[in-house]
Amino acid sequence: MHFKALASALAATQLAAAQELMRFGCSELTIDRIDPLVEPGKMPSAHMHQIIGGNSFNASMLPEDVDPSTASTCTSCTYSEDFSNYWTANLYYKARNGTYKRVPQFANLGLYVKGGMTVYYIRGYQQSATVRAFPPGFRMFVGDSTNRDAAKVPKGLCYRCSPNMQQNPFGGAPCTGDDTTHFPKEPCGGGWRVTVTFPSCWDGRNLDSPDHKAHIAYPQGSFEMGSPCPASHPVKIPQVMYEIMFDTRQFNNKADWPADGSSPFYWSMKDNTGYGIHGDYLFGWKGDALQRAMDGHCANDRCPPLQRQTDQAAIACTKAQTYPEDIGDNWLSALPGY
Ligand SMILES: *[C@@H]1O[C@H](CO)[C@@H](O)[C@H](O)[C@H]1NC(C)=O
Ligand SMILES: *[C@@H]1O[C@H](CO)[C@@H](O)[C@H](O)[C@H]1NC(C)=O
Repeated sequence: MHFKALASALAATQLAAAQELMRFGCSELTIDRIDPLVEPGKMPSAHMHQIIGGNSFNASMLPEDVDPSTASTCTSCTYSEDFSNYWTANLYYKARNGTYKRVPQFANLGLYVKGGMTVYYIRGYQQSATVRAFPPGFRMFVGDSTNRDAAKVPKGLCYRCSPNMQQNPFGGAPCTGDDTTHFPKEPCGGGWRVTVTFPSCWDGRNLDSPDHKAHIAYPQGSFEMGSPCPASHPVKIPQVMYEIMFDTRQFNNKADWPADGSSPFYWSMKDNTGYGIHGDYLFGWKGDALQRAMDGHCANDRCPPLQRQTDQAAIACTKAQTYPEDIGDNWLSALPGY
């Protein structure tokens, strides 16, 4: 290992320890063309999503109508008091004959999940700081599905081309080193790790906003170094981060890729640049469980007195599609919705 890589891995490990981050697995709840945040009530929504968390997920989830922590009967996350929903676009590979196949997801190091994602709640570097858990009804969005401009990708959203399947979970902080804001341009022997990080400051008043972003903001400097929140958004909230592991290995023959050098990979909103990367969050922890986790400096996926279910129970929590259609495990003539 080069000294620089070693140094950055060590720095990341220390940072991770100092931040006391919760890191836990959530298996696939469903793959469905609905989006209660950006297109509430619309069925089908414009593009396909992969969703994890509480099984009350539905096309419409207005805070006044649905409290996921009471409406759900199970969650695909290992912390069994977490009925939040977390979702992103999903990924497809386009063959030269113009047909598409879904890129499967796999478990992150140390976690036992079926598809889905790894979820982080990070307190930040300043251990003395008060971190306020999200209130019921809170939701937020990061990124822009229509963006195709490298300069407009928010910080903390990126791709890592992994050389091997199982990597040190803290082996290099996200969106550092060789990580990119565009799709990896070479075949990746160990698939992709996609990181989606949300802002960590809140205006303290609004559960949502018209663009689902205006009520949240980034700290004035680096989150990792404990920079303060801006005056407009003074409340420090947990930094939510997703990692999605895509197993691209069956698509690694570069001779099958487009001759013009463009990417054969497409987000479900037909983006083959990667710049349209985005994530959706809908809070649904039971009672004060998330606040207890923050106050208790909970780390990783076991933290009494938070309740943890077995991995098998989390995997067993699934939900049928509300808009039944082929998700692309066989070749599709077009992306769903196109
Ligand atoms: C989703 O919404 C539909 C229509 O409002 C309703 O019939 C259905 O029971 C809901 N499903 C869940 C899981 O809440
Ligand atoms: C399109 O290409 C894929 C990958 O090579 C292949 O498996 C599939 O059978 C092809 N479909 C058609 C209709 O030719």
